Amino acid sequence: MIEELLQNKKHDEARQGEAYAPFALDPNNYKRRFYIESYGCQMNFSDSEIVASILQGEGFGATRNFEDADLILLNTCSIREKAEQTVRKRLTEFRKLKQSRPAMLVGVLGCMAERLKSKFLEEEKLVDLVVGPDAYRTLPGLIAEADGGQKSINVLLSREETYADISPVRLNSNGITAFVSIMRGCNNMCAFCVVPFTRGRERSRDVKSIMAECQDLYDAGYKEVTLLGQNVDSYYYVGEDNKPVTFAALLERVALISPGLRVRFSTSHPKDITDDVLHTMAEYENICKYIHLPLQSGSSRVLQMMNRNYSREWYMAKVDRIREIMPDCGISSDIIAGFCTETEDEHKETVSLMEYAKYDMSYMFFYSERPGTLAQRRYQDDVPEDVKKRRLVEIVETQNRLSLQSNKDDLGKTFKVLIEATSKRSETDWMGRSSQNKVIVFPKEKYDLKPGDYVNVKVNDCTQATLLGEIVQVF
Ligand code: SAH
Ligand code: SF4
Ligand code: F3S
Repeated sequence: MIEELLQNKKHDEARQGEAYAPFALDPNNYKRRFYIESYGCQMNFSDSEIVASILQGEGFGATRNFEDADLILLNTCSIREKAEQTVRKRLTEFRKLKQSRPAMLVGVLGCMAERLKSKFLEEEKLVDLVVGPDAYRTLPGLIAEADGGQKSINVLLSREETYADISPVRLNSNGITAFVSIMRGCNNMCAFCVVPFTRGRERSRDVKSIMAECQDLYDAGYKEVTLLGQNVDSYYYVGEDNKPVTFAALLERVALISPGLRVRFSTSHPKDITDDVLHTMAEYENICKYIHLPLQSGSSRVLQMMNRNYSREWYMAKVDRIREIMPDCGISSDIIAGFCTETEDEHKETVSLMEYAKYDMSYMFFYSERPGTLAQRRYQDDVPEDVKKRRLVEIVETQNRLSLQSNKDDLGKTFKVLIEATSKRSETDWMGRSSQNKVIVFPKEKYDLKPGDYVNVKVNDCTQATLLGEIVQVF
């Protein structure tokens, strides 16, 4: 029962193992083929599109089948121990293939490459390349070295690199929604988190290059961009005119590209999201009314140990403020069960805060100690595993209830939906999202519609994860 619940929980690892499809390029036009698999957060998926662009410039075409590849790349995640285990398991599968094809190269990119550095080459003998998140521009040289039989590595972090001038090759794209990276790194030092060590210092990308990328996407028919960063509210860029651009200002600029282009963003830090951002969201219909606002814990004492820089009361006031400015705004969260020294009462505070915030959705995890983090150096990972898991189950059950209630509250309401694709379950249904980021499935009926179109859909029914409705207006 417990395992089943944990397996059902939604979290970012659900996307693990996703292999990228070949993009619209004929692989026969390329000298060599690469295969890339991405793990972890959206930033990593977005980085893989930069890597694809760099490789394409070097004469590499993409393949969906790793057995056809001359170069296999794993873009890895270190956020929890399980994420690293998944990658190691995958590497053993490639080992077999390498025995029959010695010229094939295997490379490890991303956060695990950065965390383990040359240790990776010692531990995993089949790996030829280890490349950290700020070193992708050097891939061509590293591949050449590895072709010559050397193990090659570059894990230097940078204070400036944002890959601003590299136009990502959209992989596995539906042609409607795309991620746009607006910053890299993180300066927050949350005690549990490995990201500041694997991604380095925070830096914001040139506003001009962000605008150009969003405009290009819109011109190519895309209808939604998600602005990505570990902490988007601290976006700050001073351009040639010496005028600083804040995150609120950036949001507004992107929203002004066209009312037909939806704008989303992730992730906001509760301590940093400003009224300016909330007012900008309220002002523009095309800025989606949805905020991912990770809580981590509902106890002020635990939050302080986590170095999150807000209290339970501060977080509650933030939720109130969001609802006051945007009564229809969707809110989701990340939650960690069983952080060091967490008591039963403190765990209950997390559950009660979830109920207060009425989250539409959450990503939920039990605490996994990561080498080198503040928590690993300062605190004991002293909550027994069975207690962590039981608390996580309670958190997941709470969220399941909240998600179902949130969906039931939408029955009878009408939402503007951006059609993304045909429903996976039925050829005769469309799947799209509301501004609040809820998935809505509805019959195609007689209308001549296509992905990228907007429709008004009235909600008639729901499950915990999906709204079901019917078209009431086409635009
Ligand atoms: N930058 C984002 C999230 C980064 S990681 C933010 O600040 O919210 C995504 C989520 O993974 C975190 O929000 C946290 O809930 C979870 N996480 C991070 N480190 C973890 C660890 N050591 N154990 C368990 N969960 C962790
Ligand atoms: Fe990690 Fe905290 Fe930075 Fe998010 S804000 S990436 S949780 S250190
Ligand atoms: Fe994982 Fe690195 Fe993202 S650790 S969550 S891939 S920033």
